[in-house]
Amino acid sequence: MNVAILGVGTVGEQVAKILIQNQKLISARAGKDIKPVIGVVRNLDKKRDVNLPLTNDINSVINRDDIDIYIELMGGVDEPYRVVSEILHRKKAVVTANKALLAYHRFKLQNLTGDTPFGFEASVAGGIPIIKALREGLSANQILSINGIMNGTSNYILTSMMNSGVKFEDALKKAQELGYAEADPTFDIGGFDTAHKLLILASIAYGVHGDPEDILIEGIEGITKDDIFFAQDFEYVIKLLAIAKKVGDKVELRVHPALVAKDKMIAKVDGVMNAVSVAGDAVGETMFYGPGAGGSATASAVISDLIDIARGTNFPMMGYKSPLEIKSLELLAQDEIRTKYYFRLKVDDKVGVLARITNLMSENNLSIDSFLQKPHIKNEENDKKATLFFTTHTSREADVKRVIRILEEQEFIREKPFMIRIEQ
Ligand code: HSE
Repeated sequence: MNVAILGVGTVGEQVAKILIQNQKLISARAGKDIKPVIGVVRNLDKKRDVNLPLTNDINSVINRDDIDIYIELMGGVDEPYRVVSEILHRKKAVVTANKALLAYHRFKLQNLTGDTPFGFEASVAGGIPIIKALREGLSANQILSINGIMNGTSNYILTSMMNSGVKFEDALKKAQELGYAEADPTFDIGGFDTAHKLLILASIAYGVHGDPEDILIEGIEGITKDDIFFAQDFEYVIKLLAIAKKVGDKVELRVHPALVAKDKMIAKVDGVMNAVSVAGDAVGETMFYGPGAGGSATASAVISDLIDIARGTNFPMMGYKSPLEIKSLELLAQDEIRTKYYFRLKVDDKVGVLARITNLMSENNLSIDSFLQKPHIKNEENDKKATLFFTTHTSREADVKRVIRILEEQEFIREKPFMIRIEQ
């Protein structure tokens, strides 16, 4: 089978390499030869580590009759959607690693595919076969929850900050050098990349529609040394979590940094590694672990889709052969989220401040679980400020947001109040 690679960057180079390196094994497993015949790039002058004819004329490649499968690794949303739609109109198979494309267009693409194979295993958690696990291995189950660390770059940064005291910017730079980060790394650290992946998994698990804008997304940019200090002191780690949970007849979807007790399995997932835990009503809790970013791990998932297509196996794209008889679940309103919370407040260190804060919390239904005050810091003007840390018992997101809004207006607040959710 002839393959065209649209976008020959970190992942595309590895796809071409592995197809050559493991050629005999892959042919035997697929029952056919799988051969990359052309790569499409924007810049033909850029030096690339790949032995493949290259062109910058994408339309000529889309219109070739001798290509059987197109691998879309271009990045972005609108242009890949146009290109992939054209390819599907020509009834040619597509494999993509593009989670943003799927986060916005998965159901339109599903309608376009018909019987044409469409693989996207590489779009979620890099080398971990989590789409297969959810769509095939766990297909007997009602999915109760999905909890994951699904962005290698953020996990790499948080681990470096926690374990080695590395500064945020330095850890990000290193993640970029290692080829983990998106072209625009704000997608990684802002939680959007994770949210795209969560939506894909939640659509398979629950049939939910919705765009990334519909769900709660917070990134790791605001985390400081003070939060790391608190986490270490109280036996937590900080992770960027993706959470999908069935709550009554709704689905709760959220992406945000979270304090996780350090003895939990997911707390031990460090560096670029990803992990996804899926709880099903029949199977109980399952956990999938592996490298979530990087050229060769992602290429491994891309090639598994190529092999499936060559074998003639064609799974229903979003996991349903016919429409779900039961109404698919709706998203839970963000204000209704219930969990535990951590606050970091920088305040004037003077009489009555602590009392005012605790009063404010109790008036708004927040019950304090723990409290810590870091010894005072004197600045050059000799005025004193203090850093206060609070954690709460399970509370309602709407109450927490209201307390933060009120705190922001208080004259004793020296810095924007910062909150992290706590997950058990
Ligand atoms: N940039 C992503 C990550 C890799 O850091 O996990 C591909 O999804």
